[in-house]
Amino acid sequence: MQIKLIDSVDYEKAAKILYESYIPQWQVAGSPEWSPKYIEYLDKAYIKPRDGPCVGAFDGDNLVGIGFGYINDWNVAEVGKVPTMAICYLGVIPQYQRKGIAISMIKKLEETASSKKVSVLYRICNDELSDGKVLTKCGFTEKIDNAYQMARILGSDMVNKAATFKEYGTIMKQLVKTVAGLPKEKPTIEVGAIRDGTVADASACVEVLASYKDSTQILRDWTESEFESQITNANLLAGTPFAPFFRVWDVNGTIKAFVIGRVEFIHWKAGLCPSGVITDTGFASDLDKKDKINFVLSFIFEIKEKAPEAFGTNVAVAHHEEKTYDKAGFNNDRSRRPLYVKAVGNEFKAWLESQWKYKMYYISYQR
Ligand SMILES: CC(C)(COP(=O)(O)OP(=O)(O)OC[C@H]1O[C@@H](n2cnc3c(N)ncnc32)[C@H](O)[C@@H]1OP(=O)(O)O)[C@@H](O)C(=O)NCCC(=O)NCCS
Repeated sequence: MQIKLIDSVDYEKAAKILYESYIPQWQVAGSPEWSPKYIEYLDKAYIKPRDGPCVGAFDGDNLVGIGFGYINDWNVAEVGKVPTMAICYLGVIPQYQRKGIAISMIKKLEETASSKKVSVLYRICNDELSDGKVLTKCGFTEKIDNAYQMARILGSDMVNKAATFKEYGTIMKQLVKTVAGLPKEKPTIEVGAIRDGTVADASACVEVLASYKDSTQILRDWTESEFESQITNANLLAGTPFAPFFRVWDVNGTIKAFVIGRVEFIHWKAGLCPSGVITDTGFASDLDKKDKINFVLSFIFEIKEKAPEAFGTNVAVAHHEEKTYDKAGFNNDRSRRPLYVKAVGNEFKAWLESQWKYKMYYISYQR
């Protein structure tokens, strides 16, 4: 078996590996419909901007496993900027599992991390899956036991559909218990307008996100070009069932709030079903609670219009604006998503072991 870095990813082959490895195990937590276009989008939107590595496992010429490293910076209170790498989109096809291939691929990503000056590796795992077990074997430790989980049923008309998924894990059970109704009418915004966002809005959105620095002990640090790459590469999803969205609340040229994400096709044991995934969201610090909730509810209506068959939506950002989302009817059960971390180099080892005491996180989640 050869484990090596891949410079130019064959999206067809990568999709086949991720589909075959994820779907059988991840139907309890929901696995996206891995398709070549979707992987091209993830690669170009998230991995490529910071030159993240891709590792492959080869049996002869056959690719049997693949994995990516998503490089991004954290702004950590009392420490400053920490370059990190998320282990993501990593799968080994079933016939080759339990032979140590994932461990070897993660080791390769770790070696590459050091050469790219990354200090910390991480992954937001899922209690019901085996990713945490693999990472423990690779020397990662569980640092947070409740990193991310906010989800909402898209209206009372979707409860029955959601109930068909409820035996598939605790998350679903919890979700079905939450209040699923929506207000009778789409809430209105009193000033300005909610419109589609463009690349020209990237710098204002990044500014909104940076303003969370004082209230968040670990904050994913966005550069304008990283944010832009999410927006511009969304056009790769045109013509596929994945529907990206980027909406901003504009008051006389000032961005008061934004939401970015995509409607994804998710495999559950009960079948394939679309779901809204909110990947980033931000609110200007001068907004009051009611304005924030109205904005959230108004885009919930928009997701419902865009994907009437979708049963739910979730926020794929750890702890971010959780009070706003709680009030907008999201179920906030963060007990199933542990964050596993490993330091590369001694400086951060000591920090992880003795100084990590943070409670407020805004960390991007990647499968
Ligand atoms: C998770 C996954 C990548 C593991 O790949 P793998 O090559 O089989 O993993 P390894 O052989 O290197 O396993 C290393 C250790 O992890 C643990 N582990 C791996 N798969 C496991 C499973 N299905 N159940 C329980 N423990 C598991 C075991 O401790 C294993 O050591 P052991 O075989 O000596 O007991 C593979 O099952 C997969 O593709 N799953 C779907 C995608 C996914 O969950 N990706 C997240 C990757 S972090």
